[in-house]
Amino acid sequence: MGDITEIKQLTKGEVEGLLEAAERWRKVGQGREFAGRTVANLFFEPSTRTHFSFMAAQQRLGLHILNLNQGHSSTTKGETLYDTLQTLAALGVEVAVIRMKEEGVLRTMREQGVGPTLISGGEGTSSHPTQALLDLLTIKQHFGEVKGLKVAMVGDVAHSRVVHSNLSLLKKMGATVLLSGPEAMRAPALEKEASYVSIDEAVETADVMMMLRVQLERHQQALPLSVETYHQRYGLTLERGERLQSHSIIMHPGPVNRGVEIADYWVEHERTKILAQVQNGLWMRMAVMERALS
Ligand code: CP
Repeated sequence: MGDITEIKQLTKGEVEGLLEAAERWRKVGQGREFAGRTVANLFFEPSTRTHFSFMAAQQRLGLHILNLNQGHSSTTKGETLYDTLQTLAALGVEVAVIRMKEEGVLRTMREQGVGPTLISGGEGTSSHPTQALLDLLTIKQHFGEVKGLKVAMVGDVAHSRVVHSNLSLLKKMGATVLLSGPEAMRAPALEKEASYVSIDEAVETADVMMMLRVQLERHQQALPLSVETYHQRYGLTLERGERLQSHSIIMHPGPVNRGVEIADYWVEHERTKILAQVQNGLWMRMAVMERALS
């Protein structure tokens, strides 16, 4: 019942429950209700924010935490994820947080009823549900209400798992989503759900300007333009940031490539919520762990 492998699993009511729980954890900071229970983190792709904020959340809940070292795990000897998870269940692991490069594996594991409750820490280019939840919390904290807001996601749309989960969740909560970025990084399937606009239209109309990292590690070919050209054509330059509406905020899921999708100046600016997103990741992941263990 506590699995979160895709954002679409959650009803609007469940999302609202997680937002309330995250705000409660923000106020109280820690809890002992689940102390002594065992969870595991399996990150088969690099991560700083997601892995550490899940660990920090688990520590604040007093959990016993096992971390799989990808390079030293038996998956390198051919063990399947299914068998790895059954092994962890036999060791008393109740919840497994997993980041995978491959798409759809977590859903398959869920359907197979594998041992621990499963939480996605990001999957392929298609799904990052807890990032979408913490982004939603950040937007709600700032504006009070998400319904009616216009959120622009700009950059490497095609390769961003954040876009896929955020689009689904923001629409569920009543926001309008705009997409923008280079032609070669469009995701036509998503444009049934969101208008594709120029970056200048996004800058001038969005309440939330969410910049996306160019995910070079997922590209089949080298970027056909220089970093400077990318920044000037598709990035939040100093000049573009000054044309944002006065009430608008800037977000970025991280990690940031400074001077590529966003100018240094805006990374540090007071209207930018990057570090608030990281802090909200802690509270939201406490809420997600609580739900998984309850
Ligand atoms: N936003 C995000 O997923 O960052 P990490 O890759 O550092 O976890």
